Amino acid sequence: MNQVARGSLLGIEHLEAKEILSLLTQARRMNPLKPRPLLRNKRVLLLFYEPSTRTRASFEIAAKSMGAMTTLVLSSGSSIEKGESLLDTAYTLRAVGADVIVIRHPNAGAPLLMATHLDVPVINAGDGMHEHPTQALLDAYTILRHKKTLSGLQMAIVGDIFHSRVARSAIHLLSKFGARITLCGPPEFLPEVATSLAPGLHITRTVEEAVRGADAVMVLRVQKERLAGTKLRLQDYISRYQLTTARLKLAKRDAILMHPGPIIRGLELTWEVADCPQSVIVEEVHNGVPVRMAILAKALGKAN
Ligand code: CP
Repeated sequence: MNQVARGSLLGIEHLEAKEILSLLTQARRMNPLKPRPLLRNKRVLLLFYEPSTRTRASFEIAAKSMGAMTTLVLSSGSSIEKGESLLDTAYTLRAVGADVIVIRHPNAGAPLLMATHLDVPVINAGDGMHEHPTQALLDAYTILRHKKTLSGLQMAIVGDIFHSRVARSAIHLLSKFGARITLCGPPEFLPEVATSLAPGLHITRTVEEAVRGADAVMVLRVQKERLAGTKLRLQDYISRYQLTTARLKLAKRDAILMHPGPIIRGLELTWEVADCPQSVIVEEVHNGVPVRMAILAKALGKAN
């Protein structure tokens, strides 16, 4: 296989703990309200084959806060609709002057393929069921705003683990730092292989067991069409797995409630839980900007 373009961020799994810490330290120095022209004259190409609000907007704001130019290419309305391949699209974006490409794609491995054929860094903004590394980094950043350390942190992750690239990246990251992770979801969304993702993962049958004593609870998005493919009815999911106030009370008093978004109120969690004082859902989105500033600066060799 060709070498991966220098500066690329394709996943958390193969990052070293010190590289993660370096990005988080860099993110703490970033302030989008006090712009620094670190990326002046750089062109950031945002290539999105799937819908996105948070990731796309925060990458764009992050890039512009550092003086870069951004261009958005969506699969809809671009030549991708005419059948252009991923690599031909990549070569095209490089030819118009991309210095870095941020890509979201429904297929696992698409960012890697691109990064092995280009000479500019590629950043994975979510690829299929594989990884969402920038989300894991902003989640770690958010946790560390509330907790002293990730080591020994008791983390409960509830919902559709199987399809979740957010869960996969979070598990890789948190387990590198010695967090104790408990997974909970319907069996169809939580195959046995989940425990092979990282050593020391626990699976519980009930949300109550997963959440009890947790320092942080991460609720995952559940897509209704995926639920329809299981034996579980919507109402069954809600009664067994929805995060309610009563369930959240089983966590530590100072536990934080996380969700990568977009949230579906009334399905994965109640309206009350989404807006409770322990909820850091909006803060996660907010933290996405400095974290993605750090990621872009590092990719382009401008981190200090
Ligand atoms: N968390 C996340 O990736 O959200 P978007 O799909 O809105 O980017």
